[in-house]
Amino acid sequence: METFSSVLIQWYQANKRDLPWRNTQDPYLIWISEIILQQTRVAQGLDYYLRFVQRFPTVAALAAAPEDDVLKLWQGLGYYSRARNLHAAAKSMGGTFPSTYAGVLALKGVGEYTAAAICSFAYRMPYAVVDGNVYRVLSRVYGISTPVDSTAGKKEFAALAQKLLDKTRRPDLFNQAIMEFGALQCVPAGPDCARCPFAKRCKAYAANRVEQLPVKALKTQVKERYFTYIYVEQGGYTWLKKRPAGDVWQGLYEPFLLETPQAVLSAAAVKKAAGQFFEGVFPKNAAFVLAAAPVKHILSHRKIWAQLYKVALPASAPVPPGFVRVPGAQVFRYPVSRLVNLLLQKAGLL
Ligand code: ADE
Repeated sequence: METFSSVLIQWYQANKRDLPWRNTQDPYLIWISEIILQQTRVAQGLDYYLRFVQRFPTVAALAAAPEDDVLKLWQGLGYYSRARNLHAAAKSMGGTFPSTYAGVLALKGVGEYTAAAICSFAYRMPYAVVDGNVYRVLSRVYGISTPVDSTAGKKEFAALAQKLLDKTRRPDLFNQAIMEFGALQCVPAGPDCARCPFAKRCKAYAANRVEQLPVKALKTQVKERYFTYIYVEQGGYTWLKKRPAGDVWQGLYEPFLLETPQAVLSAAAVKKAAGQFFEGVFPKNAAFVLAAAPVKHILSHRKIWAQLYKVALPASAPVPPGFVRVPGAQVFRYPVSRLVNLLLQKAGLL
């Protein structure tokens, strides 16, 4: 029987998409593409990749950029720690990309998956990648029910991928191929198994278990949060605050935020809560006007209900600590979350 690897690579050569990071061995470009593609689909990531490498074509260019510029370019992609880590890692390199697996793995934000991808694609080193695609393909073809999010599962799948890879002289092709196969053919739901080159040997297909694999032990817990943003209008200016460490969207900007334990707030409740936060900042007669009705925003572990209020303040009102006073017409220059972008647009403020 033909090896798994040779069937896979033949399939890849006939079916692969032409993607820009596959036509280079520049480790910097490959690194950027892999970080973007970690939690992002190719269809969405492609434009971001092209803009990112056009703006920052080298490690040195990225290292020299202000963090706000990097985050601005990342705006809308989510998982912003990826961008902050890229930037920090670029600054740590001293202008040269590391050339060993250990050196690549030591970069901030680079785990085993990304190190294997970079080292195999750029340097053709024999490190097998293991990502969600690989779990899906291997669990099905080899009929493995060990949960992929368990320690035992991680070990088992990594060892199998490494064993399958070892027999090929082109680790880069094998790695690209198995991910592409997971993305295009062995898809999570409703794969077209009749057209699959592994149909004859796939254990999951034979046992009619394709949709049950891979197995996950834990379901991600989704927590609900309730955000009320208050957009201050102060004679053509507004206030923005940079989000702190330790929560979603670190380093992105946003208007004043009231987070409440339950349900979104009414105008009266907003006024009361805002007054408590900023004694003396909002005048007694300040009118809080709903500017964008509640929207639901889904993140991987969070469901956020968010709305936006507007309030006009006199020029004399002091800017509270931690906020920057920004001309309303310049807000678009600041990196913001997709949610804040949406609320400001709905309110006609962007
Ligand atoms: N997802 C992660 N890495 C990828 C790559 N190199 N090509 C396509 N999709 C990917």
